[in-house]
Amino acid sequence: MALAAVAGCSAVLVVAAALAVALPEDEAPQGEVPALAAEHGVDLGVAVAVEPLLWDGGYRDVVTANYTSVTAENTMKWDSVQPERGEFDWSGPDTVMDFAERNGLDVRGHTLLWHNQQPAWLAGGSFGPQELRQIMREHVGELVGRYEGRITAWDVVNEPFADEGAQLRENLWYGVLGQDYIAEALWAAHEADPGARLYINEFGIEDGGAKADALYALAEDLVERGVPLHGIGFQSHFVHGQVPEDLAGTMRRFTGLGLEVAVTELDVRVPEPATDAELADQAAEYRRVVEACLDVAGCVGVTVWGVTDGHSWIPEWFPGYTAATPFGEDYRPKPALEGIVEALARRPAPVAS
Ligand code: G3I
Repeated sequence: MALAAVAGCSAVLVVAAALAVALPEDEAPQGEVPALAAEHGVDLGVAVAVEPLLWDGGYRDVVTANYTSVTAENTMKWDSVQPERGEFDWSGPDTVMDFAERNGLDVRGHTLLWHNQQPAWLAGGSFGPQELRQIMREHVGELVGRYEGRITAWDVVNEPFADEGAQLRENLWYGVLGQDYIAEALWAAHEADPGARLYINEFGIEDGGAKADALYALAEDLVERGVPLHGIGFQSHFVHGQVPEDLAGTMRRFTGLGLEVAVTELDVRVPEPATDAELADQAAEYRRVVEACLDVAGCVGVTVWGVTDGHSWIPEWFPGYTAATPFGEDYRPKPALEGIVEALARRPAPVAS
């Protein structure tokens, strides 16, 4: 009896949550960012996680009121999508897509080939080139093909360079297929969705240097060969006080190749405890990054990595750091949001032609 009551209760909760998800979300107060971003023709996006999208109305409200696009923080990665060979799980990706489409948000796809979050069968497998190529083509074809025409841009290859320096990362793909795994993945994604913008997404390139130079050389080679590479993602995981001065300059090198660029994973982490003065400085840093994007003709948008500080990857990965996103753990906007708004509000919108 008690068990039945509990089961009945959870059934009600499940139904209620499902209904809440299905309701139009037009009651949240609309922030200033979406309209301003639209005037500039850029996206201001945010990385989202599946669980809070399903269960947390406050989380959904922050997203719909303040952003124009979403990136799946984890659920489109290989270990989520194809946890066992040949077994695809679309529940998470479909949740993100449904939420985005119901709310008129663009979607960035993240990510197809990455050395992290690979399922055990893939990471621990022993594959020759032919078999691995076929595995890659199947995964890319299934995932990109499922959402053909609905995902604006894909991070096709994530972090292809070693953490530091100019060497390509010695990941599974490089080890078996050699450097051209990158071109092969781009072609496979292009075949699955010829309209999607295809990116290489990298960190540690925002301030120039050897890694940025090596990525530039790779991108130049791919472009010259006619490989379908359309954009470079600047992840932009910054430390407070170390946001590069000339992000726009680095971006322009790549747009000079005819590529678009985007800030794809912006956050600015602050040492604990974050003081009011540091949060004010952080606002100026957020403003500077958005201004850099607006200053570069080929920069299509800025995505923030995490909806609130309580959902950010930073405390788990960088103990002692905190407060990296524009919203606090209480879901209230922080000065950083004002920094974004100031950047978007100050710049004249492009003249319509
Ligand atoms: O999936 C397990 C789940 O089964 C388990 O119950 C739970 C318990 O903690 O952990 C879950 O795994 C977590 C995973 O995200 C999925 O949610 C890991 O603990 C967690 O460490 C992992 O972190 C993600 C990280 O990528 C993994 O490399 C972050 O959320 C995500 O923000 C981060 O995103 C990356 C970008 O994709 C690429 N650029 C760098 C960026 C930051 O690392």
